[in-house]
Amino acid sequence: MNLDELNKVARAMVAPGKGILAADESSGTIKKRFDAIGVESTEDARRDYREMLFRSADGMKHISGVILYDETIWQKAKDGTPLVDLIKKAGALPGIKVDEGVKPLPNCPGEVVTIGLDKLTDRLPKYYAQGARFAKWRAVIDIGAGIPSYTCIRANAHALARYAALCQAAQIVPIVEPEVLMDGDHDIARCQEVTELVLKLTFEELYFNRVALEGMVLKPNMIVPGKGSKTRASIEDVAARTVKVLKNCVPGAVPGIAFLSGGQSDEEATANLDAMNKIGNLPWPLTFSYGRALQHAPQTTWQGKTENVAAAQRAFSHRAKMNSLAALGQWEADLEKKAA
Ligand code: 13P
Repeated sequence: MNLDELNKVARAMVAPGKGILAADESSGTIKKRFDAIGVESTEDARRDYREMLFRSADGMKHISGVILYDETIWQKAKDGTPLVDLIKKAGALPGIKVDEGVKPLPNCPGEVVTIGLDKLTDRLPKYYAQGARFAKWRAVIDIGAGIPSYTCIRANAHALARYAALCQAAQIVPIVEPEVLMDGDHDIARCQEVTELVLKLTFEELYFNRVALEGMVLKPNMIVPGKGSKTRASIEDVAARTVKVLKNCVPGAVPGIAFLSGGQSDEEATANLDAMNKIGNLPWPLTFSYGRALQHAPQTTWQGKTENVAAAQRAFSHRAKMNSLAALGQWEADLEKKAA
């Protein structure tokens, strides 16, 4: 393992004003997104859609890396150019989602564990050869009556750490993503309590598995109330609680933190990131690694129609620009109105 090289890649992923585009929806998830805009999810449609994003020069200026799904990393654009080459030409690093989704966790009703470790040692060098310089593995922790269990948090943290160690051995920077879901009617304090425990156990497992923190990127959730909670939280409260938990759990050796959007609205995800960066004086750069909060606008504008491509690219570029400003703590709500 060349740790200097891993560290260089990790720092590039969180470079000032840049963030990550999570375009790694599994076939099932992208079908759901396409269903919502009335587009049939064929291999070509998925290619056309993602090619459109990667060719958005104005938007890609703000993107340090793109997380791909297995199908996409091998796909070619309509003119035959490999999609990974489009990403590199736009100045971004290709990355790859390597987990294989979730399965029910035995003895833990309602809880899941992320799978995909078995063949990972063989798969990683192939992704590296195809251009991937970082990877992603998402663990899912749900909040509900009597959950999460310690068993579930421990099992997921262990799998994340095993994945991270395997990635580093293959010279690939792991994005470590322990996601505490927004589903449910719990309040913000409960999200804070659970996220803190999840991060504590995740970093403990990373340590036990000898993962070099300098060669990884953390992708956490923000501390927010459950979607069904009657008490909403202010932007300042979300920012303050999230920064507090991260400072208590994430060593300064970690090169950067890139949040998931997790079902927040586009503007919420931007405003919350911005507010955290406005607090300032943080041990690590805080940026975005958004899926929905970057793609919802271009998807609804695109609708699968060639004549909408330019407008969809503008919609993507706008969100990328807004989140880039948020990563610098320089976003203002007025900028959204001006663009509209
Ligand atoms: P969202 O921003 O839509 O949560 O997606 C990010 C991601 O990669 C989840 O694994």
